[in-house]
Amino acid sequence: MSRSTAETGSTRPIRPSDQPALIASLAAAVRDRTTIVPEVGIVLGSGLGGLAEDLDDSVAIPFAELPGWPAATAPGHAGRLLLGHLAGRPVVMLQGRFHLYEGFDSGLVVQPVLLFKALGARIVVLTNAAGGLDPSFGPGALMVMRDHINLTGRSPLIGPNADSLGPRFPDLTDAWSPRLRDRLHAAAASEDVPLVEGVYVGLTGPTYETPAEVRMLAALGGHAVGMSTVLECIAARWVGLEVCGVSLVTNAGAGYTGEPLTHEEVLESGKIAGPRLANVIRRFVADLPAAETPPG
Ligand code: HPA
Repeated sequence: MSRSTAETGSTRPIRPSDQPALIASLAAAVRDRTTIVPEVGIVLGSGLGGLAEDLDDSVAIPFAELPGWPAATAPGHAGRLLLGHLAGRPVVMLQGRFHLYEGFDSGLVVQPVLLFKALGARIVVLTNAAGGLDPSFGPGALMVMRDHINLTGRSPLIGPNADSLGPRFPDLTDAWSPRLRDRLHAAAASEDVPLVEGVYVGLTGPTYETPAEVRMLAALGGHAVGMSTVLECIAARWVGLEVCGVSLVTNAGAGYTGEPLTHEEVLESGKIAGPRLANVIRRFVADLPAAETPPG
């Protein structure tokens, strides 16, 4: 099959060296709509979309109105980029995201965080819905990501590097910022929301795991498992963004309860625990030191 029939639009491979021009055109399209310079970029996973309603002076741009971006297809994901003020601080939010399981290239999956950086953000907050690998994490648990295991078999950084964006061999030692993790815990304590901490395992999906896979992932050191986030973290570190994030554990991993997993259950738990996570993130943003405000 020729590329023109097999790979169209948003599924076409995007190499790191393609990103500077693509991100510049995305940033220009955003700048046509707003002059807001965000301090923080926030990716809203399933169940967290409600945080977008807390934005003041917000400008919402549907994905399909940005160059090269397809409309969101995943259920539970609205598919908009929003800029505005959260707790008085300028932020950019992604309501929905691009997933590998939708057939999207890893280069597209990470463009939102690269765009956050191009718009001025220095910090990114990644959120997701996840299954609990740690048997003590029930539905509704909120887990600060301390580290991740990328089992997608993919990297957004394969191909010629864009040295203007980041190094060829990025370090991931403290990929999930210890400083920002402390701030998330402090924000949760202020809001009286219990937070646990653990390692997120990223797979492609779209199936949920088998019970044997859940046992394996737990034995490998994972505490929660999902179908997003790891590539975004890698790209964010590549361009020097400081990264933190929280998993909303919507269900015990497959096999723990004996009941089948359903997407409805995932969305339902997200609806219940999402507002608690929204409170934590709002407080986290509100309490960021003013010194982190970019000048101008
Ligand atoms: N596995 C993978 N992804 C998920 C799960 C799960 O159990 N729950 C929500 N997202």
